[in-house]
Amino acid sequence: MTSLLTGRPLDGRVAVVTGASSGMGAATARRLAELGAAVAVVARRKEKLEALAADITAAGGKAICLAADVTDRAAVLAAADQVSDTLGPADLVFNNAGVQLISAIDELKVDDWQRQIDLNVTGVMNVIAAFLPHLTATAEQGKPADLINTSSIAATRILEKYSIYSGTKAYISHLTRLIRVELGRKNVRVSAIEPGMVDTELPDHVTDPDASAMMAGLLSDIECLRDTDIAETVAFISALPRHVNISELTILPTAQPV
Ligand SMILES: NC(=O)c1ccc[n+]([C@@H]2O[C@H](COP(=O)([O-])OP(=O)(O)OC[C@H]3O[C@@H](n4cnc5c(N)ncnc54)[C@H](OP(=O)(O)O)[C@@H]3O)[C@@H](O)[C@H]2O)c1
Repeated sequence: MTSLLTGRPLDGRVAVVTGASSGMGAATARRLAELGAAVAVVARRKEKLEALAADITAAGGKAICLAADVTDRAAVLAAADQVSDTLGPADLVFNNAGVQLISAIDELKVDDWQRQIDLNVTGVMNVIAAFLPHLTATAEQGKPADLINTSSIAATRILEKYSIYSGTKAYISHLTRLIRVELGRKNVRVSAIEPGMVDTELPDHVTDPDASAMMAGLLSDIECLRDTDIAETVAFISALPRHVNISELTILPTAQPV
């Protein structure tokens, strides 16, 4: 995407991006930093985070690396303390780490079910638990505060064999609607983004031949979203005036039919 935002609308903001070692998270961390935010990047692959932080710093931005597995509640709490100590409380949390594993339900790939539930549900909740005190504290001080959760169009579409992944994303979308009721009153904005096909590492984990063929077909046949399209969208949501909350946003490649 052409960068639409200009200047430094996120100056003074402290952002946390999970799933920042690749794809949408990495692109978003870069863009938030370009627009003025100090960024804490979270994922498991430390070397990728370090390379990203070095790029951000070389471009004049500010970034810290927090190598952590977000399914580990204690590790996420420790990361939140490190953000506080180093950058101050986070006021923008892009809760984005996720995994997609596709299989027919009667294959009983219970380890894959569990992996998705652990990351896409429990991991997302660990991040909320660790950073919500930051968001409410910054909102109380009259600053913007954003919790942006990455869902998917899979939350609402009926895609055969996507049951567990779709179920985890439906959880995220509905959770977002529900907690917005409570947090909006405290001036914390809560958003879910539901992307269609974005060209990232996500399909690399998929072993089901039908799902792999479907995604490969989309990637070759149409112009899919780029990670930078998502980055600009997240930056836009965060840069809006404090009283404006984009609560749910579906973002599709123009030519993607469903
Ligand atoms: N690509 C799409 O078409 C699409 C569409 C809709 C929604 N989404 C959602 O977008 C989000 C980002 O995915 P992506 O497309 O950018 O794919 P990606 O490139 O595979 O990124 C996934 C990120 O999650 C991180 N991650 C995985 N397990 C983790 C863990 N246990 N703890 C911490 N971080 C972990 C990965 O880093 P490490 O391996 O280094 O930990 C990586 O940075 C996901 O929630 C995905 O479901 C993607």
